[in-house]
Amino acid sequence: MTARIIDGKQVASKVHEEVAAGVAELREQHGSVPGLTVVLIGDDPASHSYVKGKERACEKVGIRTDTIRHDASITQEELIGIVERLNADPEVNGILVQLPLPKHLDEAAVIHAIDPLKDVDGLHPENAGLLILGQPRFAPATPLGVQRMLVEENVDMNGARVVIVGRSKLVGMPLAALLLQKGPGANATVTVCHTGTKDIGAETRRADVLIAAAGFPGTVTADMVKPGAVVIDVGVSRVEDSTRKRGYRLTGDVDFEEALEVASAITPVPGGVGPMTIAMLLVNVLQAAKLAAAN
Ligand SMILES: NC(=O)c1ccc[n+]([C@@H]2O[C@H](COP(=O)([O-])OP(=O)(O)OC[C@H]3O[C@@H](n4cnc5c(N)ncnc54)[C@H](OP(=O)(O)O)[C@@H]3O)[C@@H](O)[C@H]2O)c1
Repeated sequence: MTARIIDGKQVASKVHEEVAAGVAELREQHGSVPGLTVVLIGDDPASHSYVKGKERACEKVGIRTDTIRHDASITQEELIGIVERLNADPEVNGILVQLPLPKHLDEAAVIHAIDPLKDVDGLHPENAGLLILGQPRFAPATPLGVQRMLVEENVDMNGARVVIVGRSKLVGMPLAALLLQKGPGANATVTVCHTGTKDIGAETRRADVLIAAAGFPGTVTADMVKPGAVVIDVGVSRVEDSTRKRGYRLTGDVDFEEALEVASAITPVPGGVGPMTIAMLLVNVLQAAKLAAAN
């Protein structure tokens, strides 16, 4: 069996169209245009490239976007000051502080400072709590993107055995919470694996839907995949590749070529989850603007 390759770009472009229509409707009904402000600290090349992608996507769908850039010398107080200013600015519907922050900054304190109604990354404890309680307001974009892809692929999640490798606050945990919800595109039986899991292969081999979010190439080998499973690879790592102009290529957590022969459907890296993450961020910004317009 050779698996179907799930085209994240195609699903993302469908989401972009929906958001563009929502933006136009909001403008007609309320005369307002959604606005996202990204705060980018330091010079991490991957972060700069993610932020560029977000800016481009916003422009495409009619969301106003602005990026506040600061070098890594910024103090905690200065950064919190920026966040507070954005909280008070009615033109700003969504605030995204690009992570990771330089080591001397307290990430949790910065996230706590964001107005939960503008927290389009879904990381504020209020939004994380609402998700766990089954009343999601803003869920993080990557888990939302994974769920949307599964829905678009007509994967029956009701009662499906889902195994997630990774328990981060950005991906694994909120994804588990989303897929556990009682409702469409969810209602799955979810297992979350991590570095303390005794026999990861024994867990993953039971998965109808296997989601890898560990951040290390080769974490999921073909023998860890149940024949016919749907495999979603969230991982993105740079591996040296002298045949590429930039000297590296991007790779996921899953041994793609081998897993292709075992799974029924699989996401590639790049071109799988990545475009969906940006698309679902746009959905969250539109939702934040609708919340603001309704108040
Ligand atoms: N495509 C996208 O849009 C997108 C978005 C976000 C993240 N990502 C990528 O997704 C990956 C994960 O990101 P993250 O932020 O969730 O990373 P993270 O915070 O480093 O978390 C990684 C998780 O994976 C677990 N883990 C690591 N190695 C493992 C192994 N060999 N076996 C089992 N569990 C293992 C860790 O376990 P412990 O908790 O025990 O340490 C941790 O829970 C990264 O490659 C990141 O670049 C992609």
